[in-house]
Amino acid sequence: MNIDLVRDIKSDVQVKFLNKVSLKKCKQYKKLNKAGFSASQDSICFLHEKAVLACGIEDSSADNIRSVVSVAIKALKSSNNKSATFNVDSTNIQAVVEGIILGGYEFNRYISKPKKSKLKNIFLSCKNISELQSAFEEAIIIAEATCFTRDIVNTTPEDLNPPSFADLAKKLAKENGLQWEILGEKALKKERMEAMLAVGRASIHDSKLIHLTYKPKNPKKVITLVGKGLTYDSGGLSLKPAASMVTMKMDKAGGCAVLGMMKAISELKLDIEVHAFVGAVENMIGGNAYKPDDVLVSRSGTTIEVRNTDAEGRLVLCDVLDYAQDKVEADYIFDFATLTGACMVALGQYTTGVMGHSTKLKHDFVMRAALDSGELLGHLPFNRHLKKLLKSGIADISNVASKPYGGAITAGVFLDNFIREENKDKWMHFDIAGSAYTDSVWDCNVYGGTGAGVRFMSSFLKKIK
Ligand code: BES
Ligand code: ZN
Ligand code: ZN
Repeated sequence: MNIDLVRDIKSDVQVKFLNKVSLKKCKQYKKLNKAGFSASQDSICFLHEKAVLACGIEDSSADNIRSVVSVAIKALKSSNNKSATFNVDSTNIQAVVEGIILGGYEFNRYISKPKKSKLKNIFLSCKNISELQSAFEEAIIIAEATCFTRDIVNTTPEDLNPPSFADLAKKLAKENGLQWEILGEKALKKERMEAMLAVGRASIHDSKLIHLTYKPKNPKKVITLVGKGLTYDSGGLSLKPAASMVTMKMDKAGGCAVLGMMKAISELKLDIEVHAFVGAVENMIGGNAYKPDDVLVSRSGTTIEVRNTDAEGRLVLCDVLDYAQDKVEADYIFDFATLTGACMVALGQYTTGVMGHSTKLKHDFVMRAALDSGELLGHLPFNRHLKKLLKSGIADISNVASKPYGGAITAGVFLDNFIREENKDKWMHFDIAGSAYTDSVWDCNVYGGTGAGVRFMSSFLKKIK
């Protein structure tokens, strides 16, 4: 399917956005009214003889436009029309592109005979092409990077394991002019990354630390991105119940998001140096599995009592964060992880949890990047009482809190123990456990990986000064 920005064009269908007021003034009001269309948000109505697809919106906010375009594109793809036109302007072009690309996304890798859509051309019609050209191109790059992330998240644990994840990162690096370095278990041992290594010990696959670098000339800032890349989380010996294990291929979504961000950043040619670190590991069971009761010596030297092998993400991240802080002196350090079920309990399934010390950064993400990008972000505050719950009787820290409440925050506080003093205000942790995957359609998301993180991070980085 092609998407083009055009001035004026004839296509099979003209898409019209209508609210309750504009509906009554519309030429086709009588026909639409007869069909029962009242312009309620996300309702659509085809008037085939008029070559019109009416789309209901409450108002013209980007969220509402993106949402109804996501409905419209599915209807267009399953119709027999070959082309469709959307009218766009500077206020809605990003939302329309997102609705088309993200709402129309399909993952067909495992479908033997995927349905072929007849829809070949989407035209975005506007008065002044040159005014919208760059916004159009940026929106396409970011939406396609989000689909790239979704594709990897959706890939099965058989096909996407730590070594094949590293190969895929290498391929992206080659295609997008990035530098890469991959550390296997031998190198990880040399680096004393015993917490990360313990998690992957019972897997048949070698754990990998992926490091990609995007380095333009004279960068304004240096950014470190860290991703949890659990290609499968069975829970380990603290085994997950059968129903909770299904979907745990998505536990690599933080790592996948970081790769998607690297794709977007390099294609947007941003003026910043960016380092991506992904801890790619599989958490399995076996005679050599790490155990509850083990004490691990992390790369930083902090000893960790393992009380639950299903709290493995933080064990991988603490070593990767420590490594990243040694390798790169960054202005910002952001980590992305499907870290806790508790984050979903706290904020709901749709919202990414934001944790860290810097009030300014929290504000920039929760109030600005979220609004600009259409992703949902919510702040979860640290406090000293929750911090105490990680005390261990035998080691420096326990990998799980002694009380069940505030689990997303205690996981964030665990990571905070591995952020060096000079980096405290540069670091932000994003828990995407709920937002990274969905079993039903919402907004521009369809079944499976959502690509959470790519849009809000791209929008933050685009504006960095
Ligand atoms: N990968 C899971 C978190 C998760 C749960 C992500 C559901 C997406 C959906 C993580 O490794 C985990 O199992 N966390 C435990 C922590 C607990 C043992 C302290 C959890 O959330 O139950
Ligand atoms: Zn787990
Ligand atoms: Zn996990």
